[in-house]
Amino acid sequence: MKILTLESTCDETAAAVVTEQREVLSSVVASQDQLHRKFGGVVPEIASRAHLERILPVIDQATREAKVTLGELDAVAVANTPGLAGSLLVGLAAAKTLCLALDIPLIAINHLQAHVYACRLAAREDVFPCVGMIVSGGHTSLYRCREAIEFELLGGTIDDAAGEAFDKVAAMLSLPYPGGPSIEKAAADGNREAYRFPRALMDDPQRLDFSFSGLKTAVRYKIAGPGRVDFADINLSSRQVADLAASFQEAVVDCLVGKAFAALEVTEMQTLCVGGGVAANSRLRQRLDQQAQGKNVRLHMAPLNLCTDNAVMGAIAIERLRAGMVEKLDLDVYPGVVRKTG
Ligand code: KG4
Ligand code: ZN
Repeated sequence: MKILTLESTCDETAAAVVTEQREVLSSVVASQDQLHRKFGGVVPEIASRAHLERILPVIDQATREAKVTLGELDAVAVANTPGLAGSLLVGLAAAKTLCLALDIPLIAINHLQAHVYACRLAAREDVFPCVGMIVSGGHTSLYRCREAIEFELLGGTIDDAAGEAFDKVAAMLSLPYPGGPSIEKAAADGNREAYRFPRALMDDPQRLDFSFSGLKTAVRYKIAGPGRVDFADINLSSRQVADLAASFQEAVVDCLVGKAFAALEVTEMQTLCVGGGVAANSRLRQRLDQQAQGKNVRLHMAPLNLCTDNAVMGAIAIERLRAGMVEKLDLDVYPGVVRKTG
């Protein structure tokens, strides 16, 4: 069985062909980073227009690389929640059109479940039940994952997502978008203890929420003080940039690691799966690893190539198909986060 999976939830247009045995026959990702760079973040209208231009060439490339014709596809799966409404609609319209024309089943993908499923793909063994942490540009959430497609929200950010904080702080430091990799690179030469930034909500281990907006503001005040400011006019030395990046990154990592392990305690689970763009951060990976070893926790992190948005993780469609979860062609998009599934 061959399934075409589509991903257009945010600013990556992606398609992959996967088999029922979780083999990846092809994976194509068209990034829009260049288009959003000058704005320091994703502009939804630009993203949806760019998806429209890219979706058909991306599907074409994915099927050609997999050496399958459209007629040989057995199903099409598409991420329809959560994400930017306009972006989601492009992927969904393409998927429905293919299913109608080819008379094959349509499968819905929950993008957050797919980020956790990237860990399942890499592990090559069952990872459920587990605590799933999704850390990306749009989400920072902890889930109790009973099964691949059965999630319950434990907590999440009450303001900015971790990736968004990386992107905004990078812009303040005049580092290029996307900010996560730029901050990580700058932080490599920095002193993590040079600046003491706040770690919000860390005094209550039962509360599995995050908050990064105060941290963002603290960095801003350290650089510029109050009032209107053009960050491009601020001259920081490379030492200052490195120390600010390292101190900021450490504060984010402290919160993510702290709450992930608090979630394991609260749920009495022993397995932690971490996915999403920020999961590519090497300091976060190192700290999670250290903590997991000390606590006898089974840790699965998405492989680097499956952290940021891609269609391979859409192989979770196999689990939906096995559970008989096929959609009608009136399927809609759900931009918001679903608290409980399954
Ligand atoms: O999962 P993703 O591709 O898109 C969403 O679903 O949001 O995540 C993108 C986010 C961006 O905010 C980017 O700055 C961040 O992931 N990111 C990183 C790293 N690589 C990407 N953040 C920290 N360290 C990284 N190495
Ligand atoms: Zn994502």
